[in-house]
Amino acid sequence: MVILEFGEQMSILVKFENATLMQEERPVVSGVTVEVSKGEFVYLLGKTGSGKSSFLKTIYADLPLGMGSATVAGYDLNTIKPKDIPYLRRKLGIVFQDFQLLSDRTVGDNLKFVMKATGWEDGSKINARIKEVLNKVGLESKEGSMPHELSGGEQQRVSIARALVNDPEIILADEPTGNLDPETSEEILRLLKGIAESGRAVLFATHDMMVYNKFKSRTLMFEGGKVNQSN
Ligand SMILES: Nc1ncnc2c1ncn2[C@@H]1O[C@H](COP(=O)(O)OP(=O)(O)OP(=O)(O)O)[C@@H](O)[C@H]1O
Ligand SMILES: [Mg+2]
Repeated sequence: MVILEFGEQMSILVKFENATLMQEERPVVSGVTVEVSKGEFVYLLGKTGSGKSSFLKTIYADLPLGMGSATVAGYDLNTIKPKDIPYLRRKLGIVFQDFQLLSDRTVGDNLKFVMKATGWEDGSKINARIKEVLNKVGLESKEGSMPHELSGGEQQRVSIARALVNDPEIILADEPTGNLDPETSEEILRLLKGIAESGRAVLFATHDMMVYNKFKSRTLMFEGGKVNQSN
């Protein structure tokens, strides 16, 4: 269900207006007014417990919105029906700190698993898409490898490839470099910046000030139950 009015800027992918983020019926961040457009790379910064993950979870409809309004990739979070949540999530690619790969199957089969769960049926299209996304993250030679045969950075690149399979409009990355060394973190950051530049929005929650200082970008600072913005 696309709710954007004709003429409204289609380039705005995330729009929160005076929204409250909730955890277990408890408001954790209030007055969130944020717009993120196609092509933007936005950091979410703030100390532990400040609400960065809560914001990302609200965007992928894992937490209910409190007060205010929000639209994500054309879906209104106040009125979205449970049956539409999987369709919203297909427009999102989600990357976590701990990669969350299935350890009992190859890289290719990890991607295939997600594709089958999201409606892909044609085997040759699946195989072609797997090659395409692995190529995007520089891992075309690792399709037959098991996750434990890869370095942490490579595993994270597989999870980014997995996030890209359905050509999402928005990438949500929650501390994606949290388990990686500085050099590998920088690689992952470059990859995600490139993905934003290719016309997606990337929201990147991090504690990693090394990464942040190296690549300045627009920032949402979570602090004292609020979000402050800087460019
Ligand atoms: N599953 C949960 N149930 C109840 N409260 C939660 C839950 N997860 C987080 N919270 C609370 O919500 C608030 C915001 O937490 P959140 O996880 O969004 O912070 P964060 O900025 O992502 O922190 P971190 O940097 O440690 O990941 C905190 O007060 C936290 O205790
Ligand atoms: Mg968090």
